[in-house]
Amino acid sequence: MKDQELKNNKYFFDLELKFGAHNYKPLPVVIKKGKGVKLWDIDGNEYFDFLSAYSAVNQGHCHPKIIKALKDQASLLTLTSRAFYNNSLGIYEEYITKLFKYDKVLPMNTGVEGGETAIKLARKWSYLVKGIPENKCKIIFAKGNFWGRTLAAISSSDDPLAYKDYGPYMPGYDLIPYNNLEQLELKFKEFNVGAFMVEPIQGEAGVIVPDEGYLEGIRTLCDKYNVLFIADEVQTGLGRTGKMLATDYENARPDILILGKALSGGVFPSSAVLCDNHIMLCIKPGEHGSTYGGNPLACQVSLAALKVLVEEKLSKKAYDLGNIFREKMEDSLSEFSLVKKIRGKGLLNAIVVDNSKDISVAWNICINLLKNGLLAKPTHGNIIRFAPPLTISENELNYCCEIIIKTIIEYNNNYFK
Ligand SMILES: Cc1ncc(COP(=O)(O)O)c(C=O)c1O
Repeated sequence: MKDQELKNNKYFFDLELKFGAHNYKPLPVVIKKGKGVKLWDIDGNEYFDFLSAYSAVNQGHCHPKIIKALKDQASLLTLTSRAFYNNSLGIYEEYITKLFKYDKVLPMNTGVEGGETAIKLARKWSYLVKGIPENKCKIIFAKGNFWGRTLAAISSSDDPLAYKDYGPYMPGYDLIPYNNLEQLELKFKEFNVGAFMVEPIQGEAGVIVPDEGYLEGIRTLCDKYNVLFIADEVQTGLGRTGKMLATDYENARPDILILGKALSGGVFPSSAVLCDNHIMLCIKPGEHGSTYGGNPLACQVSLAALKVLVEEKLSKKAYDLGNIFREKMEDSLSEFSLVKKIRGKGLLNAIVVDNSKDISVAWNICINLLKNGLLAKPTHGNIIRFAPPLTISENELNYCCEIIIKTIIEYNNNYFK
């Protein structure tokens, strides 16, 4: 194979098209290298990453401390399964439980496994502690939720793209509108509700930020009706929204906390479910697990990933830079008809654009952003998410804001010509 062929974008597009499943529609760029907030394609073009692998790379690409942890552990011991003890798991468990102030952690690999684990825990607790009759436990979700692609996860989805033609679906689920405490209370009055599982900000739905007081309201209702509050912080957690957890904004400590994505430092899949003993100890040896969950490599990577967040004060950085981002976008873009809404918290933000004349408008803007050196991805047809690594500097953010503003104004002017 000639060098020239290898350097050709089309060569890589065609390989994936021919040999890979067609379950994604990537932007037409082939990335070869990442460092901090930047990515480079195979031709050496440089981009700012405003997706951060859907918030899995909060600490920036190839953070030296996380890569060192990976390399050091990879040359010593990578996997034992949980059939034996290893000398990384307990150290990591102590660190993460003390950091988030829970009695215990259950380590898994992907975010969706974290969600599955949380629901299994909630069902066990419902039968063993709350006393719900066998097989009658109901788990409540909010419309617009997204927590992954397994059958259990898509069974709670109201997006046909996620669930259509994959039935039959998981029983024992119920949906209510997001950001609506009255409907939640009505549901809680029904019998046999075990848990409410919710994202503090709905990420994939398009960065939907609920009203202030919603999270605290959930906490209050869960206490009143003896229902578990499961917070899916796989996307919102670990500094992304300007606090270590998005639930930290209110008096809203979840009973079960799910973490994923940035727990991996963008390096090695790692998710975690945290809760107190009265819930976690409902599961006994042999009743749940995963060959890779809690493997030494993931433990050391996650330990390093968490320490980087703490040491570099990335939550505070996301808080401050997020305010700057939204202010700049509001100041420069709100007068343009193309821009319908600018919303978000910390460095999890979105711009909603008008797609009445063209359903591909968000995609087209992302293509123009790419040409201007910034990578972002649409979520749905009319929403663009902006979520850079939290390590981005203020200067870099200002520069990126200019790219975004210039690209959107240009598009607006052509669109309404
Ligand atoms: C809120 C939320 N939960 C769970 C998941 C699933 O994570 P994973 O893709 O690692 O399974 C995602 C993925 O986007 C997510 O946004």
